[in-house]
Amino acid sequence: MPPVPSYGMRRPFIGGNWKMNTDHASARSLAHAIDEGIADDLQADIVVFPPFPYLLTVAEVMAGSVVALGAQDLSSEANGARTGEVSAEMLRDVGASWVIVGHSERRHKVGESESLIADKLSMALGSGLRAVLCVGETREERDAGKAHDIIAAQLRSALASVDAAAMVDVVIAYEPVWAIGTGITAQPSDAGEAHREIRSALAGRYDARLASSVRVVYGGSLVPAAAKAIFSVDGVDGGLVGGASLKAPDFLALCSAATVGVAAS
Ligand code: 13P
Repeated sequence: MPPVPSYGMRRPFIGGNWKMNTDHASARSLAHAIDEGIADDLQADIVVFPPFPYLLTVAEVMAGSVVALGAQDLSSEANGARTGEVSAEMLRDVGASWVIVGHSERRHKVGESESLIADKLSMALGSGLRAVLCVGETREERDAGKAHDIIAAQLRSALASVDAAAMVDVVIAYEPVWAIGTGITAQPSDAGEAHREIRSALAGRYDARLASSVRVVYGGSLVPAAAKAIFSVDGVDGGLVGGASLKAPDFLALCSAATVGVAAS
């Protein structure tokens, strides 16, 4: 049996989710600045997630880079009559190796259901893409004491048909909805508690060894000033960054902080 990575061996992960921002020129220059600034020997997975129309441009700018390319969404279907949708194969065709699934903006603003998210995750993994599965509770759910139940239910549904072997290609992002784009970063203790809850749900779904090998990252108003506190929380393996990923110096600072903080935790 191959060795199972121990708790301390998880490679830090930092994703830059550009959301519906940039234009063609600024996507190109942002990609260029990140590529120029990133240390080639950084011991972390760094991924940028530009809007669909700019994937190819960013792929060209970052050809040969240590920074990988991801998409913000994908279709649950392989191909055919799905006007406006983008398939996993198309994403791979333009150079994407990662995709975000179940972002709270798609859950709550677009109305994606748990079953659609599960289908998208299966499609991504079955097509050779690696996935960042986002989970997290709203402010109302947290105030009602339901945060852990919500996270556990989101994981249960999304991972119902993902077998243990496929989990090597999954990063879980804990993104509390109330922290996204609000300037309110979760307290390290809250992030730590949620991350423990996620690992315990993974242990229940799979087993403890798998739960300790999957990377779990934090997202929500992550800025360089908050990085040290968050990244040094036990069990936080990096971050999924929104607003700060649009500024190359901030994103690069977060990439460096993740390798230091996560390695030290
Ligand atoms: P912000 O960093 O802008 O809060 O966004 C977080 C996020 O949603 C990343 O996916």
